Amino acid sequence: MKYVLAPLADYTNAAFRRLCHGFGADLTYTEMVSAAALAHGSSPTRHLLEVLPGEGPVACQLFGHIPDELAFAAREVTALKRFVSIDLNAGCPMPRIVQGGDGAAMIRNPQVVRDCLAAIRAETNLPVTLKTRPGPSPDKVVMFELLDAAESTGCAGLTLHGRFTSQKHGGEIHYDLIAELVRRAKIPITGNGNVYDRSTADLMALTGVSAIMIGRAALKNPWLFGDLKSGGETPSGDVLVARQNAVFQDHVANLIELHAQLSRRFPNDHVPPLGDYLLGFVRTHLFHYFRGRPNVATFRRQLNDIHTLAELQSAATPFLNQHATVES
Ligand SMILES: Cc1cc2nc3c(=O)[nH]c(=O)nc-3n(C[C@H](O)[C@H](O)[C@H](O)COP(=O)(O)O)c2cc1C
Repeated sequence: MKYVLAPLADYTNAAFRRLCHGFGADLTYTEMVSAAALAHGSSPTRHLLEVLPGEGPVACQLFGHIPDELAFAAREVTALKRFVSIDLNAGCPMPRIVQGGDGAAMIRNPQVVRDCLAAIRAETNLPVTLKTRPGPSPDKVVMFELLDAAESTGCAGLTLHGRFTSQKHGGEIHYDLIAELVRRAKIPITGNGNVYDRSTADLMALTGVSAIMIGRAALKNPWLFGDLKSGGETPSGDVLVARQNAVFQDHVANLIELHAQLSRRFPNDHVPPLGDYLLGFVRTHLFHYFRGRPNVATFRRQLNDIHTLAELQSAATPFLNQHATVES
């Protein structure tokens, strides 16, 4: 079975993707990149297209519903020669996305998805894939039309998040629908939704999918990919603490490298100072590693007074050391 890291806006940048690849993810995705922003020349959007050495295969995910903009974006992404495929997002339920007619709004009319896939396919020699949902709501299943749109435009695969748009990111996974799509499909289907350990991966595998995509569980346990592939169990106690500490430090190191690359390549783009940049990620993302550990609230409070890498290091070091000792 192949295991892939889901696109997660604000999280799956090059620093995190490289971490997941190192733990065994077979494929990773950029966070969704606005085709309209690329077409209209937004350079902060181009930050999302940065990759780091050693990342392994990365798919670039685009969102948009205007074929000409997607065609422009596909040309630009292809020319970078950084990505192994281009994915179209037709599943995001966030209000700011659907109100613009993008993401999950597109599956209300599968013809829009078909036109967009055709426009991307016409502009790239990279494999093109679709990430979508069974339909807007349980009374409107459109996944077979979406599969037909993908197959008839020559797409190389389809990822199905087994929840309706009306469920957003919660609620049950419709394994029966994933299995039905697999039965009808001529292209590989990747299954997504609520996979966070061996037993949930087994449930997804029973549908017959070719690959399993993991989203939120990877934010806390990026090593899950390796554990699932090797059949190993996620450790507990001092082994877990040591692993969390190592991942935290590797993640910070990757972010420092990414920040240096961004500052070099986009000198006029107001890339924030390193301390502020890191702190943003530590607050929003890296704390996932420490959830449930004692004294984490104290460490979090200290972050309010930190603005440089040196200050971050001196706040983090006692926290990391203390817990490795406490738990062992
Ligand atoms: C914070 C967050 C950001 C997301 N960003 C994207 C995105 O950029 N593109 C996309 O196709 N899906 C996005 N998703 C959906 C995930 O890729 C995935 O389909 C969903 O989380 C279900 O998988 P999971 O249960 O393993 O998390 C996002 C989900 C979350 C929670």
